[in-house]
Amino acid sequence: MSRADIHPTPPSELPEGWRLEGRRALVTGGTRGIGRAIVEQLLGFGCRVFLVARNQSELDERVGEWQARGYPVDGFAADLGREADRRRLVDWLAGQVEALEILVNNAGSNLRKPFLDYRLEEYEALMRLNLTAAFRLCQLTFPLLKNAGSASVVNIASVAGLTHLPTGAPYAISKAGLIQLTRNLAVEWAEHGIRVNCIAPWYIRTPLTEGVLSQPEYRSRVLARTPLGRIGRPEEVAGLAVFLCLPIAGYISGQTIAVDGGFLCKGM
Ligand SMILES: NC(=O)c1ccc[n+]([C@@H]2O[C@H](COP(=O)([O-])OP(=O)(O)OC[C@H]3O[C@@H](n4cnc5c(N)ncnc54)[C@H](OP(=O)(O)O)[C@@H]3O)[C@@H](O)[C@H]2O)c1
Repeated sequence: MSRADIHPTPPSELPEGWRLEGRRALVTGGTRGIGRAIVEQLLGFGCRVFLVARNQSELDERVGEWQARGYPVDGFAADLGREADRRRLVDWLAGQVEALEILVNNAGSNLRKPFLDYRLEEYEALMRLNLTAAFRLCQLTFPLLKNAGSASVVNIASVAGLTHLPTGAPYAISKAGLIQLTRNLAVEWAEHGIRVNCIAPWYIRTPLTEGVLSQPEYRSRVLARTPLGRIGRPEEVAGLAVFLCLPIAGYISGQTIAVDGGFLCKGM
């Protein structure tokens, strides 16, 4: 699906279980890469989308483009590594909606180093964004998710949370934490009608991975490990994120699904 065509099928023509019109969604890190693709697909399915990222001008540009095309979307600038910003974000959201059907914890970052080279502040900063932000946004948005009657949380982890990769240990630890957070909350919040699932991508072409994938030797190593023989596209992660939010996915909770071109299955 191209960016210029995010309405592949008018939502009203889809069967009931495949529709999301009018659902309200919060997507973190929605201005670029995977988050941007998730916002676009949710808009295409008729959701009202709220997105958050730090860079105000990029946020304004993205939101402006979507609003100009008639989509119901709003942006909020916040650094999710900071508790005060998380609270400001959720206060802002609660001022606009009484319920939230979809929360996508996507914002994340990385700093690659050998284990012994990480300074404590670097480790803590990665954990604050990649894990604590999702933990706290789940807590802070709970009243809104509960009010929805039926809600879906999607956490974007990584295959690095499931097996060793040369991404650096803090990133992998944070993603493994997100995978277990998914399992715990899926059980604890089932009684509130809230499903919680997780996606574990392998290499997806986004600004985050541009640097490493532009190194020919590294790229060849990645492709050699990928049965489908190519790098993934943001829309291919976004498609699963949207599917997990659909009514038809209503019996799926606590799962971590890899979008990895077969990577995790490949042995020698
Ligand atoms: N790309 C891959 O190959 C891949 C593979 C596995 C997992 N993932 C995971 O998928 C998620 C998205 O990755 P991506 O490749 O799409 O990343 P990306 O292209 O770097 O985009 C990251 C998004 O998050 C926002 N963001 C970053 N730090 C933030 C902060 N402190 N507070 C609020 N927003 C913040 C960015 O906007 P601002 O900079 O303006 O804040 C941007 O919108 C991450 O959790 C990543 O770990 C990616």
